[in-house]
Amino acid sequence: MVVPKTRSLIVFVVLLLVFNAATLCHGGVTSRFVRKLAKGDDMPLDSDVFRVPPGYNAPQQVHITQGDLEGKAMLVSWVTMDEPGSSQVLYWIDGSDQKRSAHGKITKYKFYNYTSGFIHHCTIRRLKPNTKYHYEVGIGHTVRSFWFMAPPEVGPDVPYTFGLIGDLGQSYDSNSTLTHYDLNPTKGQTVLFVGDLSYADQYPNNDNVRWDTWGRFVERSVAYQPWIWTAGNHELDFVPELGETKPFKPYSNRYHTPYKASNSTSPFFYSVKRGPAHIIVLASYSAYGKYTPQYKWLEDELPKVDRTQTPWLIILMHAPWYNSFNYHYMEGETMRVMYEPWFVKYKVDLVFAGHVHAYERTERISNIAYNVVNGICTPVNDSSAPIYITIGDGGNLEGLATNMTEPQPKYSAFRESSFGHATLDIKNRTHAYYAWHRNQDGYAVEADNLWIFNRYWNPIDESTAASA
Ligand SMILES: [Fe+2]
Repeated sequence: MVVPKTRSLIVFVVLLLVFNAATLCHGGVTSRFVRKLAKGDDMPLDSDVFRVPPGYNAPQQVHITQGDLEGKAMLVSWVTMDEPGSSQVLYWIDGSDQKRSAHGKITKYKFYNYTSGFIHHCTIRRLKPNTKYHYEVGIGHTVRSFWFMAPPEVGPDVPYTFGLIGDLGQSYDSNSTLTHYDLNPTKGQTVLFVGDLSYADQYPNNDNVRWDTWGRFVERSVAYQPWIWTAGNHELDFVPELGETKPFKPYSNRYHTPYKASNSTSPFFYSVKRGPAHIIVLASYSAYGKYTPQYKWLEDELPKVDRTQTPWLIILMHAPWYNSFNYHYMEGETMRVMYEPWFVKYKVDLVFAGHVHAYERTERISNIAYNVVNGICTPVNDSSAPIYITIGDGGNLEGLATNMTEPQPKYSAFRESSFGHATLDIKNRTHAYYAWHRNQDGYAVEADNLWIFNRYWNPIDESTAASA
């Protein structure tokens, strides 16, 4: 016979199990990970990660990005400080002694009381797929050498691994994020960067010296693998009171994109194909309403995506559309209203954004039924919709977004206020393995992970709720 006290304990345990099951069925997880909440400090100017390379006029801030539509070209950029020097890049296939050369262009800009160094941009073309290339810059004075892997030929079943970093900045936490990315046993081959690079605009007069330090800080990664750039609000550098009224001046002089290859008219929105992925970069801070260049470009671009060639359709932007933290409320809303029906129609697999300094992953949801009169304003599960991932947790000096809306909305599958990065390991046309890493853990530890099923080839429900 069960005594009353034991019976009430059993009832309590059963209720607890039911409650837990209900929680799991609703999917959303707010991580209970405990962390320090202090704001991050930027690394001082004399930090070793900002060291100027030795030698007269030595190239610094070397960075590469894709130079064409399909990954057969690489755009190599660097800065020389003492004199213009050569804009030539020498490059050769690993193991070969046949060196080729390409010639680039030099640009330079002034920002209030700052004058930039000589910024070189040089595209090297006709790269062989899946081939290791060495390259040299600084010809004539101080030569520096680097290498990269040309990507595989664009195709539906070539495995390829992307890294995901956003809102990086140059704090001690930023350094930790970059180190975790470098040492992650899942080796990222290209970084999809979702905007907010240097945070130089946080300094008096938007001190552009902090653009230079950032360029030297990230060189250890971006000189060896391309980073695909998205412009964030910290790239605007719009300061009328200093006479600086041309938005994106430092960013657009320093970080070029291959926008013309995808018929875009602006460096801030464009697309590239890389391995099995078609990546569309959108501009949260350029006009996107109906009839604007960005609207018309995206309207033309989406029907061109050939899922038999590039099964994975990935979109990058800075301001997230779905965000359950109490920061940047509704900032992505007007773009969502304009473009979300297209994302569902064209079965976008994943949307990555930054801006909110935290991590969040949604279920597959859409909110396209809503108009201002019908009141249907709650996002619903939608198997044709993308998963939205906010990865603005690179570690900049502004600190973490810690305040969340409660209760956690059903569409939010996982959220946490920690710095980190993610990897997207595409296996073939149907499967990709996604993992998010927080900086407090060991390099191999995955704090959130998910098998992602392709929307075009394998549109089964992979949501947290489905697997629970
Ligand atoms: Fe931002």
